[in-house]
Amino acid sequence: MNDKVFIFDTTLRDGEQVPGCRLDTAEKLVIARALENLGVDIIEAGFPISSPGDFEAVNQIARVIQNTTVCGLTRAVRKDIEVAAEALKPAKRPRIHTGIGTSDQHIFTKLRLDRDQVIEKGVAAVKLAKTFVEDVEFYAEDAGRTDNEYLARVIESVIAAGATVVNIPDTTGYCIPEEYGAKIKFLKENVKNIDKAIISTHCHNDLGMATANSLAGVSNGARQIECTVNGIGERAGNTSMEEVVMAMRKHNMLNFETAIHTQKIYEISRLVSDTMRMPIQPNKAIVGDNAFSHSSGIHQDGVIKSRDNYEIIDPAEVGVSQSSIVLTARSGRAALFYRVQKLGHTLGHDELELAYQEFVKMADTLQTVEDEHLEKLLQLVKVA
Ligand code: KIV
Ligand code: ZN
Repeated sequence: MNDKVFIFDTTLRDGEQVPGCRLDTAEKLVIARALENLGVDIIEAGFPISSPGDFEAVNQIARVIQNTTVCGLTRAVRKDIEVAAEALKPAKRPRIHTGIGTSDQHIFTKLRLDRDQVIEKGVAAVKLAKTFVEDVEFYAEDAGRTDNEYLARVIESVIAAGATVVNIPDTTGYCIPEEYGAKIKFLKENVKNIDKAIISTHCHNDLGMATANSLAGVSNGARQIECTVNGIGERAGNTSMEEVVMAMRKHNMLNFETAIHTQKIYEISRLVSDTMRMPIQPNKAIVGDNAFSHSSGIHQDGVIKSRDNYEIIDPAEVGVSQSSIVLTARSGRAALFYRVQKLGHTLGHDELELAYQEFVKMADTLQTVEDEHLEKLLQLVKVA
């Protein structure tokens, strides 16, 4: 039997922290519903104390979402937790996500506390959150740069206080996969009550490692991944939902599965991009415009013969209608013939040769050769 990995989506909280991407409550509700349809297990709907708008959005999402856990973020601060509990009151499955910085950098330079005081505050926050909801997740902010022995003490204490999920964020995107995986393994082996909680990954992409780090975490015992649609988030972003989901699906020898309906990935990717006014880079894995398009002659010939030659994912698996063969100056005869056929024309050997000679001249003057250019080219060939 496969091991379930829970998908915790933080598009509406960490993702929305991107400057210029603020959403109003109506927009958040549309995305929350789409996330529920996609099959995410937990929606982090916002940080209720941060503004009246965030409180309202978490509260509205808590009202309408039926099957997915709705989570609100807090600091390890009484008022934050009380306000989050209030916002989450209508939720069928509420979760409070509370926590505190645990790296020496955060303890001494940001919080100006000592290590024991941080544990006390973390434990008190979990205990207070437990008075409102059963499901309490604790985050050890900057765990990526936290000393493992100390991190193990923190985690053991908050689990003893009632935390059901322990989140190990690589807040600054500092770790490399071996290091992050080893951290999760260390906690698995050294926290004596670790089997009473789910370990969660929460990785940022400052070194481009967020996906790899999350998977390394799962391989070493984590069973929840925190991520965002399109990988949006602070600075270089968070772990990209579509990447971790598809990586686990493609490498099914890892024996992990998620509840994500992958055919809905492309649709939600566009929804988030449009609503947040945040374009997707064309070469973005899984959802970028070029993720299933082929433009060089060698690749096009291979894909036309069999898609599997150059694609590891069937576009339909993620809701993309089809692969595309883009005609450029690097394209060959096979691609030209294929596209001409798609327009309903067939060319004999000599016609194709003539069309190809005209095509390469035309392609040198254009970025891409579109259907209307091809129609003109075919007229030339027919006249000749
Ligand atoms: O990156 C981080 O540490 C966070 C926490 C608040 C979970 O987003
Ligand atoms: Zn984060």
